[in-house]
Formats: sequence, structure tokens, C-alpha cells
Amino acid sequence: MSPFRLTRTLPEDATGAALRADVRAGLTGSPRTLPPKWFYDARGSELFEEITALPEYYPTRAEREILLARAGDIAAVSGARTLVELGSGSSEKTRHLIAALGGLHTYVPVDVSESALAGAGRALAAERPGLEVHALVADFTAKLALPDTPGPRLVAFLGGTIGNLLPAERAAFLASVRALLVPGDALLLGTDLVKDEKTLVRAYDDAAGVTAAFNKNVLAVLDRELGADFDPDAFDHVALWDAEHEWIEMRLRSRTAQSVKIPALELVVDFAEGEELRTEVSAKFRQEGVRAELAAAGLDLARWWTDEEGRFALSLSVA
Ligand code: AVJ
Repeated sequence: MSPFRLTRTLPEDATGAALRADVRAGLTGSPRTLPPKWFYDARGSELFEEITALPEYYPTRAEREILLARAGDIAAVSGARTLVELGSGSSEKTRHLIAALGGLHTYVPVDVSESALAGAGRALAAERPGLEVHALVADFTAKLALPDTPGPRLVAFLGGTIGNLLPAERAAFLASVRALLVPGDALLLGTDLVKDEKTLVRAYDDAAGVTAAFNKNVLAVLDRELGADFDPDAFDHVALWDAEHEWIEMRLRSRTAQSVKIPALELVVDFAEGEELRTEVSAKFRQEGVRAELAAAGLDLARWWTDEEGRFALSLSVA
């Protein structure tokens, strides 16, 4: 059997329909918002890769440090025969984990990007002969069905991406992950941690302006996909720390009073001067908060590891 299989679970026009629904809902609400998933077209993914290398953006380096230091512990505690990675992207993060999981039989990368899956899946299947790779083109925040593979399973959701979900969305997501697990399975979760405001804001408003370009790129996505006439130069990048909710917000602030046409939705959106469109929340966590959110979903926090500087954490929780 070929060690690499790819299953599409997204209907053909899923992306177009979801984008139209999200933009209509988000831009007619108050405050106006857009879900961060729309950042990641080819240009957005490229800009995000650049962000991960920025001196100010510590989460990727911090998580990699933990993965390198703790891959053996993770393998020993989970004993996983199947690794499911949600939002796998390039699978770069997971190479160290896969190398440490000696008994691994199947790797199930899950992502909306078929091209990222195909590239990463084939590379891993070649690097690790005998490892079965079953890639799923799916939106992991929607209902997910996993292929029948040998247990115990380890589901990994890394990068701190869970921080993009609002608390109620996180509760629903964790419950949906728990529903996929049976006793003996585990969840490996990456969470950025609460820290001083200056460090946090700098990580989302770098001196080189890469994050500003990443943020504005979502307007180019709407222009291309929906025929909108957003002018990215008519908006300013904003990154702020919401101390009450303990999350970073990225916003786009309208420089002037302006009207934006979105023909695909037969919509015109009026922005007042200074009005802000929220494009992302990135929640920061504390250990006790993670423990409580996992417990509410029926998951028991078993291990908590941070990088040397205590900036980021990986938690292993068991069903
Ligand atoms: C990929 C969602 C984890 O929230 O830090 C990076 C995305 N946004 N810089 C994050 C992001 C601005 C990143 N995640």
C-alpha cells in the first residue's frame, strides 16, 4: 500500500461559501471583524513564515525548544501509534516529534491547504519508510472524522493557534477533540503564555512591518476573491493587548471615512475615520486556565512543559 494517502473532506466550493458567509457576518457586525483563517492565502502563508523568523516573534522558537527537549517524554507518556496533527501546515514542527515516536504507525496531518499537505506528507513518507501518512484536507474547527488507525492516538494542536479561538469557540473545539479520543489517547496543545505587555505587543507589531503586511493582506484576499475595492494603504495596522481578556488583538484602522464595495456580496461597507476592523485575537494563557479549560472538555492535564524562559507551554492531557 502506498505509504501516502490524501482524503478530501471539504466540498469543492466550501472555501468560497465560507468566505462569503464569514465576510458578510463579520463586516455587518459591530465591531466589524474577520476570522483569522482568511489570512492564509499563498501570500499570507509566506508572510507568516517570515513572521516566525522575526526577532520579536518568540512563540515559534520557544515551542521548537520545548519540542526538541521534550519529544522523548511526550513519546514515553503517550506511547502513540498514531499522531494526528491539526493545522499541520508544513509539518515542520512535528518532525522532531515523529522522530521521537519510535512506535509510530500512522501520521494524520489535517489542514485546509491541500498543497501544504501533499508536500509535507510525501516528504515525511519518504523520510520515514514504513510510516503510513494519511493526509486529511479538512477544516479542523468543523466536524472532524478521523480514519481508523492503530491506537493509542496523540492529537497535536501546536503553534498557539488555539489562541485564535474565542473562549466559547475554544470550549466547543476542545469538546470536539475529546469526542475523537478514547481512554489512552492524548492531546498535545501549544499555548502562548501571559507575559509583559511590551513583549507581547512587539511580537505582533514588529519593527520591519512584516506583521502589518500580514494583517493588511486579508484585504487583498477579499479584493481578489470577492471583487472588493479595499485599499490596504487606506488602513493602519494596530496591535494591542486586551488585559481584561488576556489576548492580543490585531485590527485594521480606517485612515479616513470611506466606503468599500464588495460586489460578490452586493454589500457596501462604510468605515468612519478611525474605525477599526478586528482581524485576529491571539489569547495568552496561564497554566491553571489551561487546566480548567481542558477539564471542562473532559481532558486531564498530565504534563506541562515550558521553554527555559517560560514564554510558551506544551501541555499533554489525557482522555
Ligand atoms: C499562527 C495563529 C499562532 O496568533 O501568534 C502571528 C498568527 N498573527 N502574528 C499567532 C499570527 C500575527 C499566530 N498563530
